[in-house]
Amino acid sequence: MIVVDSKENHSRKIARNIADEILLRQKLNKNIVLGLATGSTPIFLYTELVRLHIEEQLSFKNVITFNLDEYCGLCTENDKSYYHFMHKYLFNHIDIPSENIFIPSGQVEQLFLKDYCEGYEHQIQKLGGIDIQILGIGRSGHIGFNEPGSEIDSVTRQVKLHEITRNDASGDFDGLENTPTHAITMGMQTIMDAKKIFFMAFGESKKEITKKAFFGEITDAVPASHLQKHKHKTICIDFNIK
Ligand code: F6R
Repeated sequence: MIVVDSKENHSRKIARNIADEILLRQKLNKNIVLGLATGSTPIFLYTELVRLHIEEQLSFKNVITFNLDEYCGLCTENDKSYYHFMHKYLFNHIDIPSENIFIPSGQVEQLFLKDYCEGYEHQIQKLGGIDIQILGIGRSGHIGFNEPGSEIDSVTRQVKLHEITRNDASGDFDGLENTPTHAITMGMQTIMDAKKIFFMAFGESKKEITKKAFFGEITDAVPASHLQKHKHKTICIDFNIK
């Protein structure tokens, strides 16, 4: 667990670590698979990765990305979609090949959803699994959109969003009535299978739930608490929780 005074410092260090791994793989002529999060938490990390691309010529040609989640019902053109978020903050500014970008679609018909989610999982496995996973945490205790009650062996699927999550998102959607009720998310198992995890939580509003997650009981009621069992994680926070 690393506590520093600012999210900018954390983000710079994580970006450097990711850059080093990318360069290492380039030397070996290999790809690297990143699992990416959206929301306010990783924005500076993405800004920093873009800076490394522009100022230090870090290439993303050997990078494959899988996003954690997407709201159901939103098309890629919707500026509230995570597809839009990722292009705005990262993909539009780096040289990652578009075919290397995987973001769950929020527009899959119910009838095809099960197959679609299985396909997403399959694609992750086929490309060798996630090497580095970036995570934030919701005040409900979710990682990705694995809300309370999510089981440790859950995989990519459609989920109902928790009331706290919808309330927290409602500002972005001009009110609760316009806020999506469901999302597609990678599962707990998908996340726990990542070889390395960078967990980030910034600001006082994340203090209570982060404390529960890492010092409380390991329980499906606080999905992030399962991270206690992950062998290769770095917890980056800007508050003291002891
Ligand atoms: C988003 C995601 C979520 C967020 C969490 C925190 O892709 O996976 O788990 O990380 O809701 O969101 P922010 O960073 O906006 O507080």
